Amino acid sequence: MELRHLRYFVAVADEKNYTRAAERLHIAQPPLSRQVQQLEEELGVLLIEKGSRPLRLTEAGKFFHAHAQELLDKAADLKAMTQRVGKIDRKFAIGFVASTLYGLLPEIVRRFRNRFESVEISFHEMTTMEQLQALKEGRIDVGFGRLKSEDPAIRRIVLREEALIVALPVGHRLAALDEPLRLADLVQETLLVYPKAPRPSFADQVLATFMERNLVPQQVQEVRELQIAIGLVGAGQGIAIVPQSLQGMIRTDVVYRPLDDLKAVSPIIFSTRHMDRSPELVNMLEVIYEIYDELGIAHVKQAL
Ligand code: BEZ
Repeated sequence: MELRHLRYFVAVADEKNYTRAAERLHIAQPPLSRQVQQLEEELGVLLIEKGSRPLRLTEAGKFFHAHAQELLDKAADLKAMTQRVGKIDRKFAIGFVASTLYGLLPEIVRRFRNRFESVEISFHEMTTMEQLQALKEGRIDVGFGRLKSEDPAIRRIVLREEALIVALPVGHRLAALDEPLRLADLVQETLLVYPKAPRPSFADQVLATFMERNLVPQQVQEVRELQIAIGLVGAGQGIAIVPQSLQGMIRTDVVYRPLDDLKAVSPIIFSTRHMDRSPELVNMLEVIYEIYDELGIAHVKQAL
């Protein structure tokens, strides 16, 4: 049994369909079916229920799926970390959700770069869910995201909980109020949420903020990304709930107002491969905490 067999089986189990799995793996369907069949023959058990559409895993298949995924994650981890250990000029790839770019990310990276000049930094904008996959595949070394999704291959550190605020079109009646806005006052407005995909995403975090308070926004429009949401707010198409750092995105057609709800927050999460303790990560975390201390930002320090 080779890693290839595991990768093929996991794709089939995830997609529940041979055609989609073959597309995802960029191979033809007949060799994919043959490889899964070979795997079942070698194991001497059925992994997929015969004739099921969509495909259903047997009990043995479910067991194998969970452990195969774990082994693939470990293999990706081993590859990425070995490559990093072997490099003299250190490269450090950062995945980030767009909103962090309007907050402290630029300052954090400026300071890190000044202090560790030999490290070559690259940036990759992606959702939190995309960051998890990119970490496992070794395409990034750290992800700054907002979702607390569980994944055994990933280590998460919640850096801080950031307040949510409201983005309104300039001239909107709620923008004229002096006091912080109540979420209940926003349910009649068209709520623009992002990103539309992949889910779960920040969109679900915002919707959950309403649901947890028994509030249901009357009209929700899902858009692809933050910049589109803010652009549409500027066009008067609706309002958006965004992290406080978005105040750094200054536009003449959008105003930001605080919420009166201290529990309406979004975490900023530092995600890494589970076993990775490379110096770049340790140093990056140190720089972040240093900046938080200087700015008096509430946080709970955690070691890598
Ligand atoms: C922050 O705003 O706290 C932050 C942003 C990006 C990376 C790390 C922290």
